[in-house]
Amino acid sequence: MEPKPIDWEKLASIIETHRTRKWNLIPLLQEVQETFGYIPPESMEPIAEALNMSPAEVQGVVTFYAGFSLKPKGKCVLKVCRGTACHVKGSRSILRFVQNELGLQEGETSEDYQFTLETVACLGACFLAPTMMVNKNYFGRLNPTKVSSVLNQYGKSKEDDGSP
Ligand code: FES
Repeated sequence: MEPKPIDWEKLASIIETHRTRKWNLIPLLQEVQETFGYIPPESMEPIAEALNMSPAEVQGVVTFYAGFSLKPKGKCVLKVCRGTACHVKGSRSILRFVQNELGLQEGETSEDYQFTLETVACLGACFLAPTMMVNKNYFGRLNPTKVSSVLNQYGKSKEDDGSP
């Protein structure tokens, strides 16, 4: 399946609100990322032009910050914590379970753009270890049953269980 096509009108209106102010680059990129789920590479040129910068400068900022992505992500971005506290409480088996359930490795997005799987160093909720986030929601004290129900809640259909 193809990622959702870019809504050029929406992009243009985001750019317009930040036009000509170089220091607006980060907030502009954040808004584009929030709206589209990533920074479409095609948006780099119009953004650079609006802020009187070169596309290379914009690209430099996008690639510098880990929070920006140049690739479309799934509707649900899963971040499984692999920090020390979570590691001690079994985060490795949680990650393996999620990988098996979704058929994804770290950094991959499902073909239907429903899920993207990522790992992070610490979600700042160590007392809930092992933890993961789906979009902006935290889930803690995870075990396979709990992970399964979270995935179902976010639209993993029963047929997606990897069986032929
Ligand atoms: S180590 Fe996992 S939330 Fe801190």
